[in-house]
Amino acid sequence: MTHLNLEASALLVRHITLLKALEISHGVLDLACGSGRNGRYLLSRGLPVVFADIDGEKLASLSAVEVSDPAMVTLWEVDFESKADDPLAGKTFDAIMVFNYLHRGLINRIKQSVRPGGLVFYETFTEQQRRFGRPSNPDFLLKPNELTAWFETWQIIHYEERERANPPSHVASLVARKP
Ligand SMILES: C[S@@+](CC[C@H](N)C(=O)[O-])C[C@H]1O[C@@H](n2cnc3c(N)ncnc32)[C@H](O)[C@@H]1O
Repeated sequence: MTHLNLEASALLVRHITLLKALEISHGVLDLACGSGRNGRYLLSRGLPVVFADIDGEKLASLSAVEVSDPAMVTLWEVDFESKADDPLAGKTFDAIMVFNYLHRGLINRIKQSVRPGGLVFYETFTEQQRRFGRPSNPDFLLKPNELTAWFETWQIIHYEERERANPPSHVASLVARKP
């Protein structure tokens, strides 16, 4: 049996008030959402979510999520690493969250796609993750302070690099606001 982890990220829970305080006109993008645990949490707090992933089966499982207003949920099957396409081009969100996923070619697009005053939540593995196992490919591992360097012109609300207990791992976590 596949075990689905539906517990929302502690980073998101800790900073939910920032998202609740946003004026929402575009929705929040859960980029590479997987099971959608984080987007589901935002839905439960009344925020509209665009769930985006390359895996259509994972997205299909999200169609059963119960919401009072169907307009709160958008499912988007997309390849964010496509060489033929630029999926975020021309798209705008009030916030974008990325957990446990890294494709460096997407960072500038993520920055462009957040509206002024909007937020980014980013948490993924650092190079120290190798102590715990996979991923070990450098393409998927952040260097020290890499996240803060990407968002250096934004207001950094929260940043840390730390061991995460569940699952045992080493991650960098950032919350930042676009000027
Ligand atoms: C480790 S999971 C993280 C899921 C979720 N963000 C979380 O933390 O629970 C990585 C996700 O990235 C998705 N993914 C991988 N490559 C992708 C791509 N090129 N475009 C869109 N999604 C992709 C996978 O399908 C998977 O659901």
